[in-house]
Amino acid sequence: MGLCSVIYLDYHATTPVDPRVAETVMAAMMTQFGNASSVDHVVGDRSREAVAQAKQEIADLVNCRPKEIIFTSGATESINLAIQGTVLHHEKKDKIPCIAISAVEHKAVLDTCHALEKQGRIELISLPVDAQANLNLNDIERVCRQGLDLLCIMAANNEVGTIYPIELIGAIAKRYSVPFFCDASQAIGKIPMNFADWGITLLAMSGHKLYAPQGIGALIRKTDHPLNSFCLVEDSSKDYAPAH
Ligand SMILES: Cc1ncc(COP(=O)(O)O)c(C=O)c1O
Repeated sequence: MGLCSVIYLDYHATTPVDPRVAETVMAAMMTQFGNASSVDHVVGDRSREAVAQAKQEIADLVNCRPKEIIFTSGATESINLAIQGTVLHHEKKDKIPCIAISAVEHKAVLDTCHALEKQGRIELISLPVDAQANLNLNDIERVCRQGLDLLCIMAANNEVGTIYPIELIGAIAKRYSVPFFCDASQAIGKIPMNFADWGITLLAMSGHKLYAPQGIGALIRKTDHPLNSFCLVEDSSKDYAPAH
């Protein structure tokens, strides 16, 4: 069956690349191909400018600072960096961290946490959901009050479409000083997300859910949340406003 005879409606799995995005990516690969770290010539400067502009657009979309954005290969990598980076930080202090997740997180969260639990590296609490995949906010409050090192709740469910009250959940986490990781892959670009004002500590997003190519994503992180990673390079630059 040829693709032209298929009506594709599974845009929550992945979207085609928007022609305007494809054009910009093509130009970046063919003409503006400089290394954004090559600060000593104009080709590098142009790439640095393009990266700064991309960060600014993401910052405007989710209300964060450009400096808080770490580009990744997609939400799966963002999720692993957020969870494993937090766990490694605690391990360095000889602590086994306690993590709470909803029972219906994406497989990237579930598999990562179950593997860490099996290795004896985390204590894991799985929060139950009802028949519509809704969480009980009292359950969240109870586990936060008991003391948690990371709360992981997605913004919108990839299987059944349930949307979670992230602003309320973030307020609960903040009340008990619990770092809050939100996998917002299915929400960003569709419903409002507010990183700065909703008590979110870490936020994962994926490009190919909103008309960007597969293989690009971001982790947004409050800079005071410690993440240990073998591959994380801190952005030491000041917030950089691109020239338009
Ligand atoms: C809620 C959710 N989280 C994470 C992912 C993984 O995203 P990526 O393909 O960018 O790794 C997906 C994609 O299916 C998703 O729907």
